[in-house]
Amino acid sequence: MTFALARAFPALAALPWTTVGMWPTAVEPMDALARELGLAAGQLWIKREDLSGGVYGGNKLRSLEPLLGEAQAAGATRIYATGAFGSNQALATLLHAQRLGLEAGALLFPQPHTETALKNLIAILGASRLVRALPHWSWLPFSMGAERRRATRAGVRSVVLPPGGATPVGTLGYASAALELCEQVAAGACPLPQRIYVGAGSVATSAGLLLGLRLALRTGRIRAMPEVVAVRVTPWPVTGAFRIAGLAARAGALVSRQLGSTLVGGRLGKAELGVALRVTGAQLGKGYGFATAAGEAAIAASARTGGPPLDVCYSAKVMAALMAEARAGGVSGPVLFWSSKSSRPLPPVDEAALAAAPERMQRWIERARRGLGAHVEAKQLPPAA
Ligand SMILES: Cc1ncc(COP(=O)(O)O)c(C=O)c1O
Repeated sequence: MTFALARAFPALAALPWTTVGMWPTAVEPMDALARELGLAAGQLWIKREDLSGGVYGGNKLRSLEPLLGEAQAAGATRIYATGAFGSNQALATLLHAQRLGLEAGALLFPQPHTETALKNLIAILGASRLVRALPHWSWLPFSMGAERRRATRAGVRSVVLPPGGATPVGTLGYASAALELCEQVAAGACPLPQRIYVGAGSVATSAGLLLGLRLALRTGRIRAMPEVVAVRVTPWPVTGAFRIAGLAARAGALVSRQLGSTLVGGRLGKAELGVALRVTGAQLGKGYGFATAAGEAAIAASARTGGPPLDVCYSAKVMAALMAEARAGGVSGPVLFWSSKSSRPLPPVDEAALAAAPERMQRWIERARRGLGAHVEAKQLPPAA
């Protein structure tokens, strides 16, 4: 089955695209949580991106599909992801690229110790031996080039993805997700949201949603443009509104080039794309990867009301923003929570994989285990689904 972007614009079926997720992800009401927040039944909805993959899901599978398609079309046999030690992007890339027969590795930098990051890093180390530990995020640009050159010298054609897979091509995956949502609205599965709450880290998700919704509006698939509320999990300027709208416009240029811009009603400029965007930094706390009290309360609220498990780094901050605005009386129409963190159990990992890990990572794991007091052992990870 083709992807939603190509169902809407058949000429886009020519884009290289490798399916790794299970689509469409469901849309469901969150009536129990709505009640707690003083909202009417049918006003709060969730898009279950957390269930997008059988092995490992989450929003990252969206950008992986065009990125893996592009890499395979270019004849690459090895792909590297980049990000923090607990990167969802890295874990998703390793697990899904290897299922396609590609070699996969990751270049990762340290982040604050949290249980989710610790579990992810253990799973990353269990998934690949091609994992490098950088001392700091600032080493990334140099290391990405060095890794590419090392692979070339070894005769391997490789692709090194930027953090979050946030390229115009990757962003098309999230534009496709927006069009999938519009199909669900048209089929009566949920109302057209007035507002969508989504995390903004590398900003491909929020940029792609803006683009896909705008394409849907221009072609009469939806009657009004939802507001995209991008909840910062990384600070400005990475998550500046100009960067989100800029990435949406660059992805839009790819669409226009492929379709001929008349088909989508002319050029998709930054100003038009940015008009439905609101960025909030109200839940960022001390910064990327740091837990917040409001996030912890959101995790508890989701668990109490039958929602998915949320993570402190991303989805808890998004839900905390939604809850705060609802409680302040700022929600008047249907709103949608973009549930981006995989809720699938992680694959089990043997302790031996940790012994072979880069020393810097072993030290980080030791300190994280000590600091968290949570006995997150490789062998205690739940079995794969
Ligand atoms: C679970 C989760 N939610 C949200 C985001 C934010 O998405 P983006 O990086 O596209 O802004 C990420 C990014 O890594 C993520 O892993």
